[in-house]
Amino acid sequence: MTIRFLLNGEPVQVDAPPTATLLDWLREERRLTGTKEGCNEGDCGACTVMVTDPDGSARALNACILFLPQLAGRAVRTVEGIASPDGALHPVQQAMIDHHGSQCGFCTPGFVVSMAVAHRNGRTDHDDQLAGNLCRCTGYAPIIRAAKAVETAPVPGWMRADAETLRSASFSVSQISSGGRQRSAIGPSDNGDGGRQPPTCPTSADDLAAWYLENPKATLIAGATDVGLWVTKGLRDPAPIAFLNQCADLRGIVADDETIHIGAMTTIAELGTFIADRHPAFAELIRRYGSAQVRNAATIGGNIANGSPIGDSPPALIALGASLHLRRGDTRRVIALEDFFLDYGKQDRAEGEFVAAVSIPVQPDRLACYKLSKRFDQDISAVCGAFSITVEDEKVTAVRIAFGGMAGTPKRAHAVEAALIGQDWTEAKVLAAQDAFAADFTPLSDMRASARYRLRAAKAMLMRYFHESRGQPVGLLEVQP
Ligand SMILES: Cc1cc2nc3c(=O)[nH]c(=O)nc-3n(C[C@H](O)[C@H](O)[C@H](O)COP(=O)(O)OP(=O)(O)OC[C@H]3O[C@@H](n4cnc5c(N)ncnc54)[C@H](O)[C@@H]3O)c2cc1C
Ligand code: FES
Ligand code: FES
Repeated sequence: MTIRFLLNGEPVQVDAPPTATLLDWLREERRLTGTKEGCNEGDCGACTVMVTDPDGSARALNACILFLPQLAGRAVRTVEGIASPDGALHPVQQAMIDHHGSQCGFCTPGFVVSMAVAHRNGRTDHDDQLAGNLCRCTGYAPIIRAAKAVETAPVPGWMRADAETLRSASFSVSQISSGGRQRSAIGPSDNGDGGRQPPTCPTSADDLAAWYLENPKATLIAGATDVGLWVTKGLRDPAPIAFLNQCADLRGIVADDETIHIGAMTTIAELGTFIADRHPAFAELIRRYGSAQVRNAATIGGNIANGSPIGDSPPALIALGASLHLRRGDTRRVIALEDFFLDYGKQDRAEGEFVAAVSIPVQPDRLACYKLSKRFDQDISAVCGAFSITVEDEKVTAVRIAFGGMAGTPKRAHAVEAALIGQDWTEAKVLAAQDAFAADFTPLSDMRASARYRLRAAKAMLMRYFHESRGQPVGLLEVQP
């Protein structure tokens, strides 16, 4: 497969198998060894690179779970391209020296790239921006001090140069031969993939629908934060493959007075930014989803389609009354999101059918989301509860509650809802309704939590929602003994 993109400001053309990762290619083919391999599964940030999109936006991504075809028409900057072309250090590099932000130095390139991207984007929420970069020996205080020290320093010109080059006539997306449905039909002999069915990079939902109907057993790759690990850790071959990153009409959020329509290829980071004004609790949940690098890659379509019982967005979306938009060929259907999850590993999705979008009704904000995990950042939920309860004249008139981590799928708490609806909104009634959790859920014990703990935590979350709705302090840092 032939892919063209900008690498540290220079156009490159790569012939590589479709599941070659950027990290392997940088280190093995280009000898750009500043980008480090730590975990090779998106957890440590040692491999962080900056990727600029044709629209000029720049984000930090983990190169270890980024396949080369996802870069077609984009610009990559590794740590070698963060200093100026004449060798002058980027302000964050100088600040890391001045503030003693590096000891063994293994993590430092990843930190420098994350810091340079945050600096370019004017982000000063350093804890969040750097939560996906792990350091074993320096400790974070000097690194955060370095990031703070350059907040007001001007962004160096070369950090914006990629956006201008991508926009220029000499490097337009139309010149990228990463493959539309026809353009991608690189023959078995020249796709560098051992003669198997060539991958495709459809450029629209129509293209994808037609190809997937003909290749219903294919693997769709959206952000690759799951599929990347199938390859790097599971050593699986996901062929045949369709890369969805060029389907522009599957990406983005459109809202009118009644509905918020979220395209399947919208990233978790984009959703978090959009939803912050309407449902701040959802945005706060997203702040704790993986790391900046993971949120910048992972899509909402992937987070739903993978059917994970511990995916973070489904409980919040179900509590908001979301609908799922599915498409197979020219056939489209819309179902309640909770009905998509049939059983562990089993979803209501036919072969050749894909997630096109998820939509939520516009509504007053009553949402609360509680994510319980062993670490605050970069951790999968043990239990994730989402609540939206309407109380009128002190009576519960509408209620939607959903959980992750309590069953083999994300699941709505119908029995608890039934126990609350029509009741007075009082502590006594909430206590009584807690008994219904046992009818809704029989959670498992695993390394994240025991079944008993999960059930107790879920009950406590309902009580927490009650107290929060009364304006009482419930946060760990708010409650006084
Ligand atoms: C370090 C790390 C931290 C993480 N932390 C969290 C976390 O805190 N919370 C959380 O919920 N998840 C977390 N995840 C899991 C992961 O980010 C999500 O499941 C993610 O949303 C998957 O989306 P993606 O676009 O990367 O999907 P991909 O990996 O591209 O695909 C995942 C699956 O969905 C299918 N798929 C993708 N798009 C579509 C579509 N449009 N239609 C049909 N099928 C499709 C693929 O074929 C594949 O089976 C983490 C992952 C990593 C690596
Ligand atoms: S090597 Fe750890 S995130 Fe890539
Ligand atoms: S400086 Fe050694 S791991 Fe960070």
